Parts: sequence; C-alpha cells; structure tokens
Amino acid sequence: MSESSALSPIELCVIEGDGIGREVIPAAVEVLKHVAPDVIIRPMEAGWGYFQKHKTPLPDETIQVARECKAILFGAVSSPAYPVEGYFSPIVRLRRTLQAFANLRPAQHLPVPTSREGVDMLIVRENTEDLYIGHEHTEDEGQTGIAEKVITRDATERVTRLTYELVRRIGRKKVTIVHKANVLSQSDGLFRRVALEIAANYPEIITDELYVDTAAYWMVKDPNRFDVILTPNLYGDILSDMAAAWGGGMGLAPSLSLGENIALAEPVHGSAPDIAGKGIANPTASMLSVAMLLRLYWNRIEAADKIEQAVRKTLSEGDYTVDIYTEGAISTEDFTKRVCSHLS
Ligand code: NAI
Ligand code: MG
Repeated sequence: MSESSALSPIELCVIEGDGIGREVIPAAVEVLKHVAPDVIIRPMEAGWGYFQKHKTPLPDETIQVARECKAILFGAVSSPAYPVEGYFSPIVRLRRTLQAFANLRPAQHLPVPTSREGVDMLIVRENTEDLYIGHEHTEDEGQTGIAEKVITRDATERVTRLTYELVRRIGRKKVTIVHKANVLSQSDGLFRRVALEIAANYPEIITDELYVDTAAYWMVKDPNRFDVILTPNLYGDILSDMAAAWGGGMGLAPSLSLGENIALAEPVHGSAPDIAGKGIANPTASMLSVAMLLRLYWNRIEAADKIEQAVRKTLSEGDYTVDIYTEGAISTEDFTKRVCSHLS
C-alpha cells in the first residue's frame, strides 16, 4: 500500500460511468477537493453509454491511466441482463485486470431513520474469481446454461492475508469465514481450508465460520453479531447488499477494492436508471468510498475523518436525499453543499 508523500504527486483516475455515476461522482470529487486539494484528478471513460458510441465498454486508455494513477474512483455502469456482442462489464474487468482482489464493504450505523443501531460490520469479498467472473456457455442448443465456479489457493491466500492484516491494523476482533463447503466441497471447501490455514497465523483474532445461507439468516435476524466477514465473490456481492440495508440503504454503502499497490473506490450501488438524470441521487456512498481510499490506502486519516464527520453531521441534521426520507428531501447538489459547508 502506498503512503502519501509530499514529493510524489497523488493522482486519481475518476470514472463516472453511467446513470447516477455521473451525478454522485462529481459530488464526491468536490468533497475530496476540500480535504485533499493536492490530489490530481484524471477523468476517464467507461460503461454502456461509452460502448454505444465506441464499441468497447472499457477503452485501453482508461486501463492505462488507472494503472498509472494506482488509485481509481469509479461510479457505476449499466449492464444489460442479456448478451450483447462485444460488451462486458467494465467494472468486473477492471477489478480483475488491476488485480484489486479484496473488496471491502463496510455496513455501519449512520444517523438516518433507515439505519439499524449498533450495526458495524465489514464484508471482505474476494474480487477476482468465483462464478462472478461470468465464464459461461450453453449446451443442448441453448437449453442448458453452464457457469464455471473457480476458486484457487493463490487468490484465497492473498485475500485472507489482506483481511487479517487489515483486521489487525484497524483493531477489529473477529472474522467469520462464509462459504457453502458442505455442498461445494471442492471449490468452497478449498476456500474454507485455505482461509482457516492462514487464520491460524493470527491467534489474537477470533475466527469462526458459517454457511452462506445461515449467514444470510443471521444477517437479517441479528446483524450486530457480525464483525468482519470473509467470503468468495458471489456470496459477498449478495450479502453486502443485505448488509447495506442495515447501514441505511444503497445510497449510503461505500466500498474499496485493494490489491498490491492499487485501490479502487466505488459505491456499492449501480447506475440506478430509475432515478438517473433527476439530480436526486444520494452521493453519500461515493463520498464515504473516497474516505475509505484516504484512510486505508493513502493513509490520510485526518482527511478521511473530516469527510466522515461532515457526512454524519449533514445526516444528523436531517438533511436527506429522497431515498432516505421523501418529505423535505434535498437534491444531490444541496446535499453536497451542506457536506462541504461542514468541511470548511
Ligand atoms: P442499483 O443499485 O442501480 O439500484 C437499486 C435501487 O436503489 C434503485 O431503486 C435505485 O434508485 C436505488 N439507488 C441506488 N443507488 C442510489 C443512490 N445513490 N441514491 C438513491 N437511490 C439509489 O441496482 P439495479 O437497479 O439492480 O441495477 C441498475 C443498473 O446498475 C444495472 O444495469 C446493473 O447492471 C448496474 N449495476 C452496476 C454496478 C456497478 O457498476 N458497480 C453495481 C450494481 C448494479
Ligand atoms: Mg452488487
């Protein structure tokens, strides 16, 4: 992980993407400029809209600049639920190409009526393999669909190590390894074995395990029992959306993907076509993703604290976007102004 230094300039590759990505990311960048004016912003393109004009959803220049910056802020992209010749999900590809292999998704209580008191968990989702990669084909003239689930020792080792090192660093206490090894003994079974092997090197951290269905049950019934969850890609995708509900909603859920000397900050939510273009999207998730980047990658704790405190203050004063509370809801722009007013 890189540390900020007065000598080398810090660059951030910013990809707004589609839909509300084009609204929430500028809001998050504005907040970043208040707390870290030295960061150089390099705006780049990717997504469904870009694909329609240029026949690729992820141009090589975007990958190139992302690599140069070693830090990316990504909004969201729209992906059709049917195959489109030449299209692939640019964010799934980017996470994999950059080997940003650990996706950290915290769900924490925030001062909004939709959030649950006491919730404070961090889901670590393996980001580069599993069913989520979308290696699929059909047989039987299209009447049988087959998807490959690949789990490797290497990918499991690195995500587990990163998780336990992080847990140590941020002072959390317990890791729950979530899998379905009772049914998928070769793939999830390997994930479980390897994760437990690595965990044994960290005796001061409590480790337990749950099957993913049981984890889903407890996530709804008693989310406060969770501290850190470590899980393969697809389960992490699903459980983190569940956890986001306890955090107060999709508009509030941030994430950061980490790899060797690379970080990719992105809100958990998608491009939200139902509200895109209306100026009402909640930029909190993107702002808190920037705070994660500052805290966990650039090691700029003070700047991260500032953003988190300003967001909490804004929310605790009852200034909400419409996803939190419809009556008296304020726009993305007004919400951003209020957060910024608490920063200066
Ligand atoms: P979504 O997260 O875009 O929206 C789900 C619901 O939450 C919608 O009702 C939306 O209005 C609301 N919502 C999400 N973010 C919000 C925000 N910041 N403020 C206020 N309300 C918010 O998920 P959905 O509808 O399943 O997918 C829409 C598109 O986004 C699809 O094309 C999907 O493929 C894509 N997607 C992209 C992701 C990414 O780029 N990382 C992640 C998830 C979905
Ligand atoms: Mg998701």
